[in-house]
Amino acid sequence: MISLKNSALESELSRVHTPVMTAEVLRFLRPMPKGFYLDATAGLGGHSEAILQAEPSIKRLVAMDWDQEALEIAKARLKRFNDKVGFYQANFKDMDLVLEEESEPGFNGILMDLGLSSFQIDYSGRGFSFMKDEPLDMRMDRSGTVMASDMINNLPRERIEELIRIYGEERWAGKIAEAIEKRRRQRPILSSAELSDIVSKAIPRRFHPKKIHPATKTFQAIRIAINREFENLTEALEKAAQYLLPGGMLVIISFHSLEDRIVKHHFRQDARLEPLTKRPVTPQTGEILSNPRARSAKLRAARKVVK
Ligand SMILES: C[S@@+](CC[C@H](N)C(=O)[O-])C[C@H]1O[C@@H](n2cnc3c(N)ncnc32)[C@H](O)[C@@H]1O
Repeated sequence: MISLKNSALESELSRVHTPVMTAEVLRFLRPMPKGFYLDATAGLGGHSEAILQAEPSIKRLVAMDWDQEALEIAKARLKRFNDKVGFYQANFKDMDLVLEEESEPGFNGILMDLGLSSFQIDYSGRGFSFMKDEPLDMRMDRSGTVMASDMINNLPRERIEELIRIYGEERWAGKIAEAIEKRRRQRPILSSAELSDIVSKAIPRRFHPKKIHPATKTFQAIRIAINREFENLTEALEKAAQYLLPGGMLVIISFHSLEDRIVKHHFRQDARLEPLTKRPVTPQTGEILSNPRARSAKLRAARKVVK
């Protein structure tokens, strides 16, 4: 694990991290003077910084992240904005706690840029990447009790198969779950490299995907399950609709088709929200070329209906 006391690393991370679809985020969020905003997934602070720069007269922006280490990086990046910014280590499904703490009636805008940050993948040492040999942890919040290795070594094979099939949309889920079960009978699976190797060997070589690593979908599925990502998103959408002020904007960037579907359905069904994007907005080609992480981003926006 890296030490985040290392301020050179902090500044390097915040320098190299380019937030996704910033122009589109600002276009829909429309930060306004005296507004109160929530960046519910502050990550490395890129979008927060862009919002604060776009509208220096906002009243306050709350930068929230579930991952304390990521939040430390955001803090370093946003230091110059002083008390315009509040920092909260919390799950976004608990966003109402912010209003209580800040004595505010609601938000003028909420941004959620879902998934993982480049810091978590490349530097957190928590086994998010199939390219590294790290302990199989995958918790975004280190105080959570269940790690990926607990899940992989203890869940019934059928349940592992189901998770990989549904959350990973992986057609080889059956073979992968079988291989996991076979290996864990010999010894527990404890590292990301080990899991990556098991998955890669479970998929016949001629069916290895061309553009992504064969373990991509399995790792994604386990991460989603460990962090209860879809459940958190569903609860957060409900809270966002409740706690946005009338006319307030909700902007969500997702990287997974199931996440985008959850957002789309919620926007359609919740009478408190007026969808502003019929189809998801996707990044410009130029952005995808300069920032490959943007490749699968889909942005949807909605406005809280004025009563
Ligand atoms: C794609 S990154 C955000 C990057 C950020 N927009 C930036 O510009 O640096 C997603 C972040 O969401 C955080 N996250 C994921 N699920 C969360 C949740 N339920 N509550 C709060 N933060 C969450 C992750 O820890 C991660 O830092």
